[in-house]
Amino acid sequence: MTKTILSGVQPSGKLHIGNYFGAIRQFLALQEQGNHCYYFIADYHAMTSVKEPALLREYVREVAMSYLALGIDPEKSVFYRQSDVPAVTELSWIFSCLIPMGLLERCTSYKDKVAQGLTASHGLFYYPCLQAADILITSCDLVPVGQDQKQHIEVTRDIAEKFNNQYGEILTVPDAYILDNTAVVPGLDGRKMSKSYDNTIPLFETAKQSSKRVMRIVTDSTPVEDPKDPAKCNVFAMLKLLCNEAELAQWQEKYTRGGMGYGEAKKAVAEKLNELLAPYREKYEQLVNDPAYVDDVLAEGGRKAREKTNVLMEKVRSATGLR
Ligand code: ADP
Ligand code: TRP
Repeated sequence: MTKTILSGVQPSGKLHIGNYFGAIRQFLALQEQGNHCYYFIADYHAMTSVKEPALLREYVREVAMSYLALGIDPEKSVFYRQSDVPAVTELSWIFSCLIPMGLLERCTSYKDKVAQGLTASHGLFYYPCLQAADILITSCDLVPVGQDQKQHIEVTRDIAEKFNNQYGEILTVPDAYILDNTAVVPGLDGRKMSKSYDNTIPLFETAKQSSKRVMRIVTDSTPVEDPKDPAKCNVFAMLKLLCNEAELAQWQEKYTRGGMGYGEAKKAVAEKLNELLAPYREKYEQLVNDPAYVDDVLAEGGRKAREKTNVLMEKVRSATGLR
């Protein structure tokens, strides 16, 4: 059955292959299944960490070009910038007058981010409330997100129920669609690939740059001639994402038989990766050279998103007594 889907991504740095395998690939699949998809660039949210105006603009453009290059199709999905729907801030204020402080205090992401060095601003604390507005304003059924966002979806459901109890059944209570968490892509150092750890392979750079990074993937010091354990190898984890079953069986055999150096496996990863990404990179370059097209897509996406969300906002204003 066709569902309404919504998800957002913060423009806070270059997208990497962890984002692709962990999230974007599933967004594309949901689009191709014919769902009504709303995908947006969370620029208000990114202001909790990006304070430089030129950098925020650059990141928004990079994310827009990346998603379009990877296959988000503006004919099929509504693709927009969060700040082009300013009513989300209005809705988030209405929610903030309903939700108890304790609910936000229980959210772990605030403490985690402060521990990582982000400023302990009110915006960072209020973040889940704005996220609830992003979600509920589209009356969506499903929100595809990574495991780390599960708590924010629970808060969103709580808020929707509180609102409906207070003002009548206006908001759709959505479900989280937690993306396959077996596909945690390891970074170059073996920790989860993340832009905060500076251990990524960005999606959009040259084949040469990607190959260089792949060569830096950390491996153990098992000698070439010895058998190796694929389950413990960061390079093999990448092969798993990139190879078909038959190829993977061959690599498994090479690992366990011995006589294979990690360099050989890394070379295969680099080749496969560059093969996968070449067409997307070509498309990205075309978009770099056509900034007006990207602007038009976002402007049109913003228009469609406002058209959709205005209907709900009128109901909300009327039910709350603002009209
Ligand atoms: P980062 O950790 O680089 O800041 P984000 O938190 O912005 O990445 O990630 C956006 C989405 O991409 C996450 O919700 C998650 O689903 C996915 N993702 C990020 N890193 C990985 C990874 N290493 N493996 C799998 N999925 C990932
Ligand atoms: N908080 C999400 C993240 O850091 C981004 C986001 C903002 C989002 N609003 C959203 C995700 C609404 C899903 C739905 O990845």
